[in-house]
Amino acid sequence: VCTAFAPPLLAGKRVVITAGPTREALDPVRYLSNHSSGKMGFALAEAARLAGAEVVLITGPVALESPKGVRRVDVTSAQSMYEAVHREVAGSDLFIACAAVADYRPAEVQPHKIKKDASLEQDSMQITLVRNPDIVASVAALADKPFVVGFAAETRDLLSYADDKRRRKGLDLVVANDVAATGIGFNSDENAVTVLGENLEQAFTQASKSIVAGSLIELFAQQMGAGER
Ligand code: CTP
Ligand code: CA
Repeated sequence: VCTAFAPPLLAGKRVVITAGPTREALDPVRYLSNHSSGKMGFALAEAARLAGAEVVLITGPVALESPKGVRRVDVTSAQSMYEAVHREVAGSDLFIACAAVADYRPAEVQPHKIKKDASLEQDSMQITLVRNPDIVASVAALADKPFVVGFAAETRDLLSYADDKRRRKGLDLVVANDVAATGIGFNSDENAVTVLGENLEQAFTQASKSIVAGSLIELFAQQMGAGER
């Protein structure tokens, strides 16, 4: 086979990727969020584009430039990310949930800035949080679902928690990410991950997020193809 003339791995495929953190408003000036930089999701978007896919990148607030040739949709809260995903995911072939979605949001968003002296005798304050929808699980539950890949950020028992998530959420693959290890994961330029599937366990040693993204996209394309045969 002359590989120089082989079509790129994801030619003709539509890929939807979520990236970055979400922000859950408390009042007009405050929010709850997390340390996700969006780097891994952006690297995956770039790698998928280089592999020939049409890419939609749905991202929370990040300080990153959009990869060339990728359509970027900016969102803020988990709820708005959920809605954007369900607008874009119909007819897609691959969905990659890389975003660090806030699991909870404040039950109420105050219309005005919360004043600290509202109750002078109180040294503490309580905020009631309610659950956000699980975006990747909702995509995996669609009748006409794409190939679905989730990420699992864990600080202990990495592979068992990650595989739990894969089965509970109905994912085709889960990318297990040890966010307690130094130099990889959240906000870092490098990552080291292990991909788990029904009959798959493949580790990728520490490298730049763009190198890891290239290897992951190659594996996802191969696993998607295996499902079609
Ligand atoms: N995820 C999602 N929607 C949410 C929460 C998580 O789509 N509301 C996705 C993430 O993008 C990731 C996967 O689910 O692909 C796992 O996220 P993670 O936070 O590790 O798992 P949780 O199920 O939220 O479990 P926990 O935070 O309790 O470990
Ligand atoms: Ca979570």
